[in-house]
Amino acid sequence: MDLLRHLWKGIFSLIRNNLKPKFYSNHRTRNRIRNDSFNEKELFSQAQEALKQRRKIFLEVGFGDGKSVIDIANKNPGVSFFCIETYSKGVNLLTERIQDEKLNNIFMLYGDAIEIIEKLFNNKTIDKIYVFFPDTWPKRKHKKRRIINTYTVNLFFMKLKKNGVFHFTTDNINYAYEARTLISNYFSTKKKVSFSHNRGDRPITKYEKKALIKKNIIYDLIISN
Ligand SMILES: C[S@@+](CC[C@H](N)C(=O)[O-])C[C@H]1O[C@@H](n2cnc3c(N)ncnc32)[C@H](O)[C@@H]1O
Repeated sequence: MDLLRHLWKGIFSLIRNNLKPKFYSNHRTRNRIRNDSFNEKELFSQAQEALKQRRKIFLEVGFGDGKSVIDIANKNPGVSFFCIETYSKGVNLLTERIQDEKLNNIFMLYGDAIEIIEKLFNNKTIDKIYVFFPDTWPKRKHKKRRIINTYTVNLFFMKLKKNGVFHFTTDNINYAYEARTLISNYFSTKKKVSFSHNRGDRPITKYEKKALIKKNIIYDLIISN
């Protein structure tokens, strides 16, 4: 009976996730936040339009309060900076910041980054992908929700141009080594994947501050395609 119940739960969850593994934390469901101050579809169409400009493309996944987006976009005015967040409060915060700073090279998207990346970007078009301090999902049963897994590593490097850069940062040692192994497996013998000795162009984010208070070690993987 138990076996049948588990089997049914598995089948149901596969159907619910469109036969794909579940990648994201699903803040919308978890926090039950509904916010109509922005329109998801409109943000997507604006991003599609921006891609026609054929500028360099940077992308940040899970931008939180958007501080890093503002910082990097400010330093790279010639780049179109796309950024994706599932947390509507973050989208609202970044909207205000973009208006305050009068920036016109940021294209924000609301929803699950993996779904959006699959739909929005052609292969070999992105110059840089940043993932700073993603949710660590430390519990074993939640590990499959981590944003870095075999599927997404393949997806990120498929979307990156040749010599495009993937920058991943975490203060969770297990996640750091797991991500290194996954990227290493992706490149097999073609590339040695090691932690970076510097932080690249990564600005200080809210979660870095939290990590520093806890005196955690911060791991950066800055890997070119
Ligand atoms: C721990 S926070 C870090 C935020 C920010 N990068 C920083 O360093 O302060 C992780 C963020 O990733 C977002 N996130 C998680 N999974 C996501 C997904 N699949 N697509 C888009 N955003 C996601 C969460 O909503 C959350 O805001």
